[in-house]
Amino acid sequence: MASLPFKDKHKKSSRRAGSGSFLTQWRIFFRQFLKHPGMIGSVIPSSRTLVDAVLAPVDWERARLIVEYGPGVGTFTRPILERMHPDATLIAIDLNLDFVAWLDAQIDDPRLRVVHGSAVDVRRFIREAGHQQADYVLSGLPFSTLPDGVGASICAETRAALRPGGEFLIYQYSRYVLRLLTPLFGGISERLEWRNIPPCRVIRATGDQALTRAA
Ligand SMILES: C[S@@+](CC[C@H](N)C(=O)[O-])C[C@H]1O[C@@H](n2cnc3c(N)ncnc32)[C@H](O)[C@@H]1O
Repeated sequence: MASLPFKDKHKKSSRRAGSGSFLTQWRIFFRQFLKHPGMIGSVIPSSRTLVDAVLAPVDWERARLIVEYGPGVGTFTRPILERMHPDATLIAIDLNLDFVAWLDAQIDDPRLRVVHGSAVDVRRFIREAGHQQADYVLSGLPFSTLPDGVGASICAETRAALRPGGEFLIYQYSRYVLRLLTPLFGGISERLEWRNIPPCRVIRATGDQALTRAA
């Protein structure tokens, strides 16, 4: 892996899940948005209300492998670690090396593996972590602005990476991703979370039919 530019500037907190200051996180996020608008897809990190809404379906007692795509400054990563079983693993995959370095420097938790790479390679990252399939995959990727074909590949790889009954949990400002999910997932539900700026779609997809209704 290439050098980690934030590593020395943002030393690991002694707490299990250090936060960095709220403003620091916003500043880093905004700066990355200016550098890579299509890859980041949002000007500010997600709200706590959205985090709670997206994570609500997770069975924390049973989940042993959770994968997060596009953790950014860790807006979901920290709440996942707070709720996750002591024996569970979280793999957080981000294409942006500055975010990877920030997370690696800020969060000190043996259950977390921060990986620099693309979500397209999720199955390889799962294998490298010593697992076979994930219970949940959570995505903050901006599907509508990813390069052509990348979103479709990520959805197909995610379907293959999930164990039977596993769920793909997505938060998204546009409905674009639904056309990628429909051919792959038998059960899809969608609702709008108004208490986020801007309001955000919360989507659940599973291989079976169980979710084919409003969440
Ligand atoms: C909208 S931000 C989400 C940030 C954070 N999860 C939140 O809710 O505030 C999108 C993130 O996806 C990452 N990303 C974009 N394309 C990716 C890919 N192909 N694989 C993994 N991460 C990717 C970006 O670097 C960025 O961190």
